[in-house]
Amino acid sequence: MPTLAWLNRTAAFTTAAQVPYRLLQTVSRHGDAVASTDNLLIQGDNLAALKALLPFYRGRVKCIFIDPPYNTQSAFEHYDDKLEHSQWLSMMLPRLQLLRELLSEDGSIWVTIDDHEGHYLKVLMDEVFGRGNFVDTVIWQKADSPRNSARQFSSDHDYMLVYSKAPDWIPIKLARTEESNSIYSNPDNDDRGPWLPGDPYANKPYSRGLYTVTGPTGRMFQPPPGRFWRVSEDRLRELDANGRIWWGPTGDARPSIKRYLSEVGDLVPRTFWSKDAVGSNRTSKNEMRALFPDAASFTTPKPEALLKRVLDIATHPGDLVLDSFLGSGTTAAVAHKLGRRWIGIEMGEHAATHCLPRLLKVIEGEPGGISQAVGWQGGGGFRFCTLGAPIFDASGAIHPEVRFATLAAFVWQQETGGAYDPAQGRLGTPWLGTNSVFESCPRLTDERETQISPETTPEPVLQSRTAYYLLFNGILGDKRPASGNVLTRAVLEALLALHASTPHPEAPLVVYGEANRLGPETLARARVTFRHIPYDVKAR
Ligand SMILES: C[S@@+](CC[C@H](N)C(=O)[O-])C[C@H]1O[C@@H](n2cnc3c(N)ncnc32)[C@H](O)[C@@H]1O
Repeated sequence: MPTLAWLNRTAAFTTAAQVPYRLLQTVSRHGDAVASTDNLLIQGDNLAALKALLPFYRGRVKCIFIDPPYNTQSAFEHYDDKLEHSQWLSMMLPRLQLLRELLSEDGSIWVTIDDHEGHYLKVLMDEVFGRGNFVDTVIWQKADSPRNSARQFSSDHDYMLVYSKAPDWIPIKLARTEESNSIYSNPDNDDRGPWLPGDPYANKPYSRGLYTVTGPTGRMFQPPPGRFWRVSEDRLRELDANGRIWWGPTGDARPSIKRYLSEVGDLVPRTFWSKDAVGSNRTSKNEMRALFPDAASFTTPKPEALLKRVLDIATHPGDLVLDSFLGSGTTAAVAHKLGRRWIGIEMGEHAATHCLPRLLKVIEGEPGGISQAVGWQGGGGFRFCTLGAPIFDASGAIHPEVRFATLAAFVWQQETGGAYDPAQGRLGTPWLGTNSVFESCPRLTDERETQISPETTPEPVLQSRTAYYLLFNGILGDKRPASGNVLTRAVLEALLALHASTPHPEAPLVVYGEANRLGPETLARARVTFRHIPYDVKAR
């Protein structure tokens, strides 16, 4: 496949792997205590933040929306948009690679951009996401008036490149609007309600589509040369008998097949998004002024209605949304108001001066943006985090602040390639879960096996099954460094008793601990493979 070449391209391909995993540190919790675990506002460079999210969210994000710096060579009040062209590509590549890792198999990514880098970004995203996963380019009408001071053209639009993780992604149809319904009318007072005159001709040759039909006034009609009726003569007569054919107001026009409003479904998204439907730059600037009347306004926000349209097409309530160039917090605010879970990452000070207060206002029921349209009354919560120390130091030693759940996520990710969900094992015990690997099937944990429908999936063939245990932070109650995290005979007995109560006691065990006091025969008899912390935990 043809690819883009630029200075330092090869180095850019190694960047993501070299970024150390860091701890996420909770600075504050806001709103409802339970809901605050769902939503995360992270202040920090998104490269490090995305890497920090991987063990917990790999393959779990349903929709990624990013509005990265367009590289317009401007210096905006809150961030710099002036990179050398190759540097911009080297900045984007590792971030797109990590974003792809976080995207779920049924997820999509939406990236706004303009002509400065848009066509290069398309080629880059083809390489990262696969050309076959390119969905479309949306044109967003950002300007609502011409800019006569422009030297060449006054630019009216931005692009939004849309990619899916897998080629079979289908957008969610949009609810019909008064405007989309207004083109339907009912000039003949049809009992079935308003309708549109539909094209009577087929797009392709149709063997039963060549005949002459006589209308109510005796006028005869044939399809134009080279074209065909779209229904057979019998079907046309049947439709006519049912009042479903329109012959014009005086009955002597060519037949049209009526398409009733009551029978058409929701709307397939289109690629041109007008300012009247989703707002313009002026709309978002007004939204900013209403949110921050006293603060320096954020200069490049997107309108809330634009984000609402993206999330309506790409997510259902409860799905996880990620924006790693959060700016003033629009994506998080809209996701929150729409009942989606969200993660927002912003490296600038405005994470604290704009995103945080904006999201606090959202929890309190802030009435601007899409609030009226969706009936937003407030509620929910979120955590505000920063990036902490690297989890592993240069020699692979684990940072003293690392807790059980964090190391568990690393062990699980390393062993299974998937994100760790604490609910998959038994909380408060060393059992992390039992991983089943099926032939030509995604890896499944025991809990998820039962959710696969036999109608949609061929019978999966089990390849292997392994149970994972972690001895760390004195999980068995013994916090003494030389005992609780060490595999001794007593600890092995406790693990085997626990293992006997799991859904697959026949599965062999992999046990991570700080030391092992047992001989190879004892381990083999117990079907245990021992792995050493920190040496057997991948630091990158
Ligand atoms: C165009 S703005 C996003 C505006 C946003 N869509 C909104 O509605 O407010 C781009 C943002 O990306 C942030 N940014 C740039 N590089 C970043 C990085 N490496 N990590 C995190 N944020 C970054 C900038 O600070 C800026 O706030």
